[in-house]
Amino acid sequence: MDALAALRLQLEWGADEALGELPVDRFAAPAARPHIAEAPRRDSSPSAAPPAPKPAAPPPPAALPMPAQRARDIAAGCKSLADLRAALAAFDGCPLSTTATNLVFADGNPASGLMLVGEGPGAEEDRAGLPFVGASGQFLDRMLASIGLDRSAYYITNLIPWRPPGNRNPTDSEIVVCLPFLLRHIALVRPKRLVLLGNMSVQSVLGTKTGITRMRGRWVEAHIEGLTAPVPALPMLHPAYLLRNHGAKREAWADMIALRRALDEN
Ligand code: URA
Repeated sequence: MDALAALRLQLEWGADEALGELPVDRFAAPAARPHIAEAPRRDSSPSAAPPAPKPAAPPPPAALPMPAQRARDIAAGCKSLADLRAALAAFDGCPLSTTATNLVFADGNPASGLMLVGEGPGAEEDRAGLPFVGASGQFLDRMLASIGLDRSAYYITNLIPWRPPGNRNPTDSEIVVCLPFLLRHIALVRPKRLVLLGNMSVQSVLGTKTGITRMRGRWVEAHIEGLTAPVPALPMLHPAYLLRNHGAKREAWADMIALRRALDEN
């Protein structure tokens, strides 16, 4: 019963997948810290000589670039989608890469002119290494099929390329580290139109705090570094939200029509 209760507790805390054969005790004592020499003790006797003037502090060690700055530098150096994928696969600045099973880079046709950006992979995407293959992805496929689009007619990726454990929301610092890669991804694809799915991708790509319910359904301009002109972007409700809120499908259908119209105008 104790083992069952412990298992249930793990599920409640969001650990819904075994990532390794053996458990890792993250509370185990950390490796011994390097020995730091003790400062010589000051002699407090009244006859002691006055203390020598303090030596100048040694210059601080050169600070390592912060992960987000490093992400920006690495992403900026990528000249192709293959470079970007390889750079993400080698990047160790986001802790999500250590718990995910696979990097989820993108799917579909990068030459189609239409690019969709979701939030982050779930369990099925993590297993397959492809975005939007689980329940919300299948629902999105059906929505797009209703306006005549399949994955040869669009390219799809996520703001976060690794699954957050237990499908929790990514933290602000995880978003900040992953965003330079996404922005470079958009700059390399050079889409004619962007569709931003859900609050997180809308706010991150557009750099706004305005919520999705106010943004959805209206074309706005996304200013992406490396592109000479802004990209028309359509914020939409996330398909996972639509699966939980059937009443919102009416608005999503209006957004699909707006997308179809814009593509026809092109
Ligand atoms: N939700 C997302 O935002 N992206 C996926 O790839 C799957 C579900």
